[in-house]
Amino acid sequence: MHLLKDRGFAVPSSEVTSRDVYEGRRHMLKLLAMGAAGATLSAWAGRDALAQSTTVRPNKLAALPGSRSSVGGTMEKLTPYQDVTTYNNFYEFGTDKSDPGRNAHTLKTRPWTVAVEGEVKKPKVYDIDELIKLAPMEERIYRLRCVEGWSMVVPWMGYSMSELIKRVEPTGQAKYVEFVTLADPKTMPYVGSRVLEWPYIEGLRMDEAMHPLALLTFGLYGEVLPNQNGAPVRAVLPWKYGFKSGKSIVKIRFVEKEPRTSWVKANSGEYGFYSNVNPKVDHPRWSQATERRIGEDGIFQKKRPTLMFNGYESQVGQLYAGMDLAKYF
Ligand code: MTE
Repeated sequence: MHLLKDRGFAVPSSEVTSRDVYEGRRHMLKLLAMGAAGATLSAWAGRDALAQSTTVRPNKLAALPGSRSSVGGTMEKLTPYQDVTTYNNFYEFGTDKSDPGRNAHTLKTRPWTVAVEGEVKKPKVYDIDELIKLAPMEERIYRLRCVEGWSMVVPWMGYSMSELIKRVEPTGQAKYVEFVTLADPKTMPYVGSRVLEWPYIEGLRMDEAMHPLALLTFGLYGEVLPNQNGAPVRAVLPWKYGFKSGKSIVKIRFVEKEPRTSWVKANSGEYGFYSNVNPKVDHPRWSQATERRIGEDGIFQKKRPTLMFNGYESQVGQLYAGMDLAKYF
């Protein structure tokens, strides 16, 4: 039965065209564990093939295959592609959850460069296609928990940020990493609106950015990122609230001082620099103890308890040893 445990198992989404297929595999594992597999094996294989051939997804994007990763995997149900790509926060394209999916087609993701600069020995402007090939692409299934109280489970494609960081050789002065994202009023209709200060800026402490879970992300579900999810490159920090995961990054700066992030500038009483998922520290206006899983809506659906560090405490807890997490929220 140990196969069924949540311990870093991930199926590459090139093999997973739908949640049904994924659930089929899980059912199969259960049958195998019970020794009852033989009779149903062919039926299951047939169902898998059928699902693969009949799953139709509009606007299929370029494939971005990667190998399964043992980092951060979960056996929880994947949030359907449809929900991951139509329920978004990307304020450059509007503040409604459906705005990015409707408006982000104007974003131009080629040519695209990412300038890596500041306190590094080897600053460099990377072309996005060079950056994609910098390290082996991996599929990482992570929970994403938004500060607003909802969550998703997404098969992201990318590699650890540390792969890039070690290549540019940060100096001893580099204490933080700042992520600057695109702010182009010509293609992003809400840049210039007063909801936030643009460009959208996020930041991490160096040791957080170097943690293997911190993902430089280029795709999801085995394809390149849809524009509304932050194409062509974004961060994903699964133990932090979703807003730390800046989308459509154009600059990565290594700095000595803690960066002033967009949400801290907007309201430092409500949003802190760390923003680690913490069910014990409430947002001033609402509880953070539970969450609603997108795709599991319904009036009788019970909310899930939110886990410390979004369930990644054993991996990242040490980064914050001795810190007062109510103060450094
Ligand atoms: N990045 C930029 N540039 N602009 C944004 O408005 N929203 C953040 C984050 N990254 C945001 C952003 C928030 S609040 C969340 S919850 C996640 O993106 C949502 O990512 P998703 O739409 O892929 O689920």
